[in-house]
Amino acid sequence: MARRILVTGGCGFVGRHLVAKLAGEGGNEVWIIDDLSTGKAPADWEVPRLRAVGEQGGIGFHEVVGHDAVVRFIRADFVAVAQAELGMTPSLGLERLPAFDEVYHLASVVGGRNVIDNDPLAVGIDLAIDSTFFLWAAKVSRPARILYASSSAAYPVDLQEAGESRALHEDDISFEKRLGLPDYTYGWSKLTGEYLSRIAHAKYGLNVGVVRPFSGYGEDQDVVYPFPAIALRVAARRDPVRVWGSGHQTRDFVHIDDACDACLAVCRGVSDARAFNIGSGVATSFLTLAARMVELEGYAAPVLGTEGKPVGVAERYSDATRIREELGWRQTIPLDDGIRRALDYARSRLARGVEPD
Ligand SMILES: NC(=O)c1ccc[n+]([C@@H]2O[C@H](COP(=O)([O-])OP(=O)(O)OC[C@H]3O[C@@H](n4cnc5c(N)ncnc54)[C@H](O)[C@@H]3O)[C@@H](O)[C@H]2O)c1
Repeated sequence: MARRILVTGGCGFVGRHLVAKLAGEGGNEVWIIDDLSTGKAPADWEVPRLRAVGEQGGIGFHEVVGHDAVVRFIRADFVAVAQAELGMTPSLGLERLPAFDEVYHLASVVGGRNVIDNDPLAVGIDLAIDSTFFLWAAKVSRPARILYASSSAAYPVDLQEAGESRALHEDDISFEKRLGLPDYTYGWSKLTGEYLSRIAHAKYGLNVGVVRPFSGYGEDQDVVYPFPAIALRVAARRDPVRVWGSGHQTRDFVHIDDACDACLAVCRGVSDARAFNIGSGVATSFLTLAARMVELEGYAAPVLGTEGKPVGVAERYSDATRIREELGWRQTIPLDDGIRRALDYARSRLARGVEPD
C-alpha cells in the first residue's frame, strides 16, 4: 500500500535510515521537514541516494535512486512551519501540507552525552518542538498515524545506578502511579512528549505509538556518539584504546536498521500511545564493547577509561519483551555484525582523513 508519510527531523541519523526503509517499500511519497541544524542535506546522503529533480515553493523534489519513491524536502524549522499552519504566525510562503497517512516525529535537539550534560537548556527546546507538534497534529494535520520518538532517557535515573540496575520495563514509567526523575532536560522533554502523546490519543482521538529507543548505533552515525567514535579509534589502531569515564557504564546497543523496523511496527500497530522499548535486552559496558572491537579488528591493545568526560547513568538496558511479544519485532543484527560494519566504515572515514579524537 503506497502511503504519504512525513518524517520531521528526517535528515538526522534515525530519519535517514527510516526514509531509506520507507523508500524501499515502493510507491511511498515521503516528506521531510528538517532545519539541518544537525542533519545532513539530502544531496549528501549515502543511503538512500537522492537525486534532486526540482524545487517549487520552498519544497525540494527528489527521486530515490533505485526505488519507486519520491522524497519532498522542506528545509525549515518544524516549529515555524507548524505555527504558521496553526495561524499563530504569518505564512512562510509554503503551500499547506497535505494529509498524511503516517507522521514520524523525530525532529529534536539530541547531540549525544556532551550536549545533554553540558547544554541542557539547548536540549530543553525539545519541549517547544514537541508541544507545537502535537497541537499541529491535533488541530491542523490530523494524520492517520503518528510515531513519537521518546527515549530510554525518560526512565527514572534511580533505576540505573551502579549495582542496583535491572532491565528497564515499560511499566517503570507509570503516568498514573510513578514517574521518577528522568535523565536531565533530555529525559524530561521525552517524558513530557509521552504525556502529550497520551493526551493526543485520549482527548483528541489521534492514533499514536511511542518508542523508547536505547542506544541506537550505526556505522554512519556522527562520531560525537560513542559507538562510531570508539570504532574510529580502534580502526586507527590506537594503543591503548580510550573510552569515556571508567568504561564500566553499560548501554543497550541496537542497530539502526533494527531500530527503524521497530519504529515502523509501532507506528502501524499501536494507537493508544503506549510505549515500547527498542533494545536488545543486553547490557554491554564500554570496556567490553571496545575490547570486542579490538579483537575483531585483529590486534591487541588495552582499553582504558578517561577522566573528566560526561558519562551519564551507570547502567541502562531494556526489557525487550513487550515489543517482541506484542508486535513480533526482534533484533536481527547481532552486536558482532554491527561492530564489523562500524569498523569497515571507520576505515573508510580514516581514508577520507577523519581523525579519531
Ligand atoms: N539515535 C538513537 O539511538 C536515539 C535513541 C533514543 C531516542 N532517539 C530519538 O529519535 C529521534 C531522532 O534521533 P537522531 O539520533 O536521528 O537525532 P539527530 O540529531 O541525528 O536528528 C534530529 C534531526 O532533527 C533536526 N531538527 C532539530 N530541530 C529541528 C527543528 N526545530 N525543525 C526541524 N528539524 C529539526 C536536526 O537537523 C536533525 O536532522 C530524536 O527524537 C531522539 O531523541 C534516538
